[in-house]
Amino acid sequence: MAKPQKRYVCQSCGSVASRWQGQCVDCSEWNTLIEEVGGNVTPFQAKHNLQSGGRAIALIGLDAEVALPERMATGIAELDRAMGGGFVEASATLIGGDPGIGKSTLLLQAAAELARRGQRVVYVSGEEAADQVRLRARRLGLGDAPVELAAATSTRDILTTLGQGQPPALLVIDSIQTMHSDLIEGAPGTVSQVRASAQELIRFAKERGSALVLVGHVTKDGSIAGPRVLEHMVDTVLSFEGERSHQYRILRAIKNRFGGTDEIGVFSMETGGLSEVANPSALFLTHREEGMTGATVFPALEGTRPVLVEVQALVVRLASGATPRRAVVGWDSGRLAMILAVLEARCGLSFSTCEVYLNIAGGYRVQDPAADLAVAAALISALSERPVPADAVAFGEIALSGEVRPVAHAPLRLKEAAKLGFEHALGPSATKSDGMRVSGFKTLGALVDHMLGRG
Ligand code: TYD
Ligand code: MG
Repeated sequence: MAKPQKRYVCQSCGSVASRWQGQCVDCSEWNTLIEEVGGNVTPFQAKHNLQSGGRAIALIGLDAEVALPERMATGIAELDRAMGGGFVEASATLIGGDPGIGKSTLLLQAAAELARRGQRVVYVSGEEAADQVRLRARRLGLGDAPVELAAATSTRDILTTLGQGQPPALLVIDSIQTMHSDLIEGAPGTVSQVRASAQELIRFAKERGSALVLVGHVTKDGSIAGPRVLEHMVDTVLSFEGERSHQYRILRAIKNRFGGTDEIGVFSMETGGLSEVANPSALFLTHREEGMTGATVFPALEGTRPVLVEVQALVVRLASGATPRRAVVGWDSGRLAMILAVLEARCGLSFSTCEVYLNIAGGYRVQDPAADLAVAAALISALSERPVPADAVAFGEIALSGEVRPVAHAPLRLKEAAKLGFEHALGPSATKSDGMRVSGFKTLGALVDHMLGRG
């Protein structure tokens, strides 16, 4: 028999190389290649007889009858909303997020809710001892929920245990990086181990109808497999985000084979665990005072849900000829550079000798392109030291030509703003509103003139 070939697997993206390299050729990460003993199929074996010996599979048309998969609502509305209605039976969900962000807490709460609704729920912790999880459950007031708990890391043990009797409706594995499959070699957390363990667990879930939830850590350091390789294997990928120093957390679906990916769930981390935030706008708006410069409120849209956030800009003039800094938190730095360039080229406002800082209050991340006009208004206000009225919101997309483009769902944004007491909107020229005073702008130049009291 041929000697097993050495192979080097990138722990970040899973690509395989035949010799060790400092940098992965596929994902360009450094020091991520680790030697793994591979059961490679030789080209001869692969070619041999592939057209016979298999089982015939049924090929059926698109119009065949299908049953909609059962959804299990947890009753935690923000979680159900992000998932598109609850956990789906016979499916696999990956929930990723930084350590300490609250993944275990969220899943323990969801597990307890489902168990209280009479479903069989199994929670396997590979990170914490069972008593630690029990103590946490008690602190969260969930000590009485009939969740079946185990501390285990061997997928064989887990699947043997669950193979007997009624399969759980919900199976939580916390985390997939701690799981170990004895079918292949390697330490837990390596890409091949993570992939093999996930494969076994997913197969079980699909065969037995359980909703499987895998917790995955996102690490910057390449020594632990990032959950990237898992994203292709599961049906749904959720990301649990937030700044650890801030209270609130956002659950976002990045991939969802059973629903949309544009809804978010908002939570706040409190001493009693994660509590739902039904009205996120109030959370992200800092206390607003009349006369503050460099701040605007942007009515963002997350899926079908408006969220009001504050955009803050600070402009610092430099005395020396040093290269000015641009720093952005919560927005895209490339987009900030673009807005600055449009302000300079089309409107004659120069930031070239100024440092520019942009921050979205509360640690929220804005991805909506409609934020352009709010960012521009904050920058103009910071540079000119003229405040944006405290009762105004701003939204609109800015083109490189300086044109202000209309954005999706303006009425929804305005309605939310009106609900929170805003009376004035700065937006694209054709914007209409029943309840609000609207200043419409065709170009960014027109906004600059308006704010500087010109024209
Ligand atoms: P955890 O769910 O363990 O995070 P993860 O599983 O994503 O690593 O959450 C840990 C943090 O949450 C920890 O720093 C303490 C905080 N926390 C609270 O503030 N309140 C609570 O009720 C709980 C259980 C945790
Ligand atoms: Mg955890």
